[in-house]
This record gives sequence, C-alpha cells and structure tokens, in this order.
Amino acid sequence: MGVELLYPMRTYLIVSSDGERTNVMAADWVVPLSHEPFMVGVVISPKRLTYEFIEKTGEFVVAVPTLDLKMKVWKAGTVSGRDEDKSTLFKFVPSAKVGVPSIEECVANLECRVVEKKEYGDHVFIAAEVLHSTYADFAFDGGARIDRIRFLAHTWGRAATFDTRYY
Ligand SMILES: Cc1cc2nc3c(=O)[nH]c(=O)nc-3n(C[C@H](O)[C@H](O)[C@H](O)COP(=O)(O)O)c2cc1C
Repeated sequence: MGVELLYPMRTYLIVSSDGERTNVMAADWVVPLSHEPFMVGVVISPKRLTYEFIEKTGEFVVAVPTLDLKMKVWKAGTVSGRDEDKSTLFKFVPSAKVGVPSIEECVANLECRVVEKKEYGDHVFIAAEVLHSTYADFAFDGGARIDRIRFLAHTWGRAATFDTRYY
C-alpha cells in the first residue's frame, strides 16, 4: 500500500487551457499553502495534458464539485484530453482574473496563477496564488456546510461524501 493510506481525500477539478482549448481533469492532491496571500498547491503528473496546458499559460482553476457530479468527475479523471475532448462535460463560465474558465456547476472556483514548481518522483508539485475565488454562499456559510452540500470525496477507486451532521 502507498498513497492509498492517506485516503479518503476530497476530489477537485483542475481546469486548464492552451489559449484555444479548455481541458478538465480530476485531482485529489490539492492542498492549502497560505492564507495571506491565499495560496494552494496541486500535484500533477507531467504526463497529463493538464500539466502541458498549465506549463503554457501558468494559470488554472481549482473547482469544487459535489457528489452529484461524480460520473462526470470520474470521466475527467480517467480519460485524457489528448484522446477525447472533455470540454463539453461541464458548463464553463469566464473567470474574473485568469484566462482559464470556471465551472458553473461547482460550488467554488479558485482562480490560480503558478508561482513555483518542483518535481518529486513521478509528479510535480505546483504552488500557485489564488488571484480570485467565487463560491456559493449556501455551501460555505460559516464554514463548509456538510449539512447542505454533499462535497465529493474519494476512497481510492470509489466516490464518497461526508456525514451530514457535525460532531
Ligand atoms: C478521483 C481522481 C483523482 C485524481 N487525482 C489526480 C491528482 O491529484 N493528480 C494527478 O496528476 N492525476 C490525478 N488523477 C488522474 C487524472 O485526473 C487523469 O490522468 C486524467 O485523465 C488526466 O487528464 P488530462 O490528460 O486531460 O489532463 C485523478 C483521477 C481520479 C479519477
């Protein structure tokens, strides 16, 4: 067993673009880095088309999906944009601060610009500043509302979500 031991994890979507084409992939390996400035880290294999697009533009969006989107998220995470156009899976809307679009169906979208990259083994850690974020008030009212929104999580191979009450 390896990274599976760190699961369950949340699942996110990474939106990227080469300036013409928009692509989306699933990503579990997303981590907060700083409050001020707001920064996040994403860990992406250099084999992904997403990686190639981020290399080109230096921008991406981290979108927060809900459990009801699990089939589309699974497709985004199992098919490469190199083999199939994934741009019709979600409804894309313009972002405020980056050229890469946000996803309308997601409860939050974090618009990111790459600050630094470092290769670790078979993946690359990408540190980015969140230039702007949009979110559904209903989902983040006084913290994440697991009693209202079924945030998407992953057990390594299977979709999951949270209990709907707090402890
Ligand atoms: C739930 C889930 C989470 C994933 N998390 C990551 C991740 O954090 N980093 C990564 O490089 N690949 C991750 N993947 C794999 C990519 O999403 C997958 O290889 C995708 O097809 C890449 O698409 P692209 O080539 O269009 O960029 C994940 C896949 C799934 C199903």
